[in-house]
Amino acid sequence: MKQNQLPDLKQAQKRTKEPTVIERAAMDLPAEYFALGNGKTYYIRTYGCQANFHDTEMMAGILEQIGFVSAPDIDKADLVLLNTCAIRENAEDKVFGEIGILKHDKEHGRNVMIGVGGCMMQQPSIVEKIRKTWPEVNFIFGTHNMVRLPYLVKEAMNAKKPYIEVFSEEGKIYENVPLKRKEEYKAYVSIMDGCDKFCTYCIVPFTRGKQRSRLPEDILCEVRKLKENGCKEVMLLGQNVNAYGKDFGDPDGFAGLLKKTAETGIERVRFMTSHPWDFTDAMIEAIRDYPNIMPYFHLPVQSGSDEILRMMGRRYTAAEYLALFRKLKAVRPEASFSTDIIVGFPGETEEDFEKTLELYDACGFDSAFTFAYSPRKGTAAAKREDQIPEDVKSSRLARLNERVSYWGKKHNEEYIGKTVEVLAEGPSRKNGSIWSGYTGTMKLVNFEPHDVKAGDLVQVKILDAKSWTLDGKQV
Ligand code: SAH
Ligand code: SF4
Ligand code: F3S
Repeated sequence: MKQNQLPDLKQAQKRTKEPTVIERAAMDLPAEYFALGNGKTYYIRTYGCQANFHDTEMMAGILEQIGFVSAPDIDKADLVLLNTCAIRENAEDKVFGEIGILKHDKEHGRNVMIGVGGCMMQQPSIVEKIRKTWPEVNFIFGTHNMVRLPYLVKEAMNAKKPYIEVFSEEGKIYENVPLKRKEEYKAYVSIMDGCDKFCTYCIVPFTRGKQRSRLPEDILCEVRKLKENGCKEVMLLGQNVNAYGKDFGDPDGFAGLLKKTAETGIERVRFMTSHPWDFTDAMIEAIRDYPNIMPYFHLPVQSGSDEILRMMGRRYTAAEYLALFRKLKAVRPEASFSTDIIVGFPGETEEDFEKTLELYDACGFDSAFTFAYSPRKGTAAAKREDQIPEDVKSSRLARLNERVSYWGKKHNEEYIGKTVEVLAEGPSRKNGSIWSGYTGTMKLVNFEPHDVKAGDLVQVKILDAKSWTLDGKQV
């Protein structure tokens, strides 16, 4: 049995000038690995962001390549993987709850192998806690070694104790890893991994390593193949897509990639997430010139107070953010906007918070992901002494969320009576005779269908609006 390899936050924080290694043959496995699963079933639970979801698609692809088949639910699977998220404490609590349930099942005779991976496992204190509290976990892995799943599963099959393998390196790029995508008509395409921004509240640069961009030819080849297979929409994914290509000195950067992706002719192009700081005029021109770049922009602002933005290390002011917002709105007046906001960052005063509300009203976002600040071990902001009490954070969050619902409903009401294009996804979960799908502006529409199949782009007349959804009828 090999030695455990534990995570190391100090090492994870390092950034060198070494070029990123592109590994194309990680899935050339010895023959015996292909029968490892032998028809056993697997289930993967995903806790995090789109990148984390995309990693799940990769893990599923790898497991199927080594002979596992997908289980309909977590209770029936022979192998359960938890793909965890470290962004806030409540994301972590959910994982501990699930491990507790699986432990209970094991104690009552269920023969299940448990693997825990993803961002949380990049943190030493978490791995230590799992090792001490839940020896029922069979193996632990991180964000850098998913491609080693076949080896990890084999190792864990023969081990009596949890097998731990977490790397804290800067990270590689893996090409040619099998993916089992959730949908055929809508796909996440990862264009980069990692992040070098080190916003002072954020754990991501520690958990996912340095920023490393895939080569444009690899990305475009993936998009073209998706299109040939009937895919209608791609979401270009990265922690900060605007910085795409900076790591390998690509002169065209994200604007170039965005144009080339639009030129494949795929019906819908989206991207996520953009940091307001590196949003260039060349990107705005691409957005103006290519109608298949969808008019929906997720542009996290985090705070409306310049002082807080400075302490967060965001490198823009509220006025600069607003100017960028208006530029985008000017080139695509039909666009919708969403944002991320943190309330209760250390030192945030009532006045700072009011500036956030003011900026929110000035932009009138269509939607927002709002969070109470959660201190993350190892980050700069967590070390500060001026932490905000929980009750203040939650009351600010509630006040902000009132604005969020107000603007959400107001914008949705503007759709009533209009006919919009929707990418049909399938019958809604609650009512099988009603279908749902998203508009180009990322509004979720529930509609009465006629003659539709999943992946069709259909015209829907909007009849009613709620805070988060629209109701309509296919025309
Ligand atoms: N790369 C993206 C953000 C990824 S994390 C970006 O820079 O925009 C998603 C969101 O989680 C962040 O935008 C932020 O609003 C929130 N978040 C990150 N760290 C947090 C923390 N410690 N406490 C609360 N919210 C946090
Ligand atoms: Fe975190 Fe900032 Fe990087 Fe986004 S840009 S992942 S918030 S460090
Ligand atoms: Fe969470 Fe990791 Fe994504 S911390 S938000 S799963 S990058």
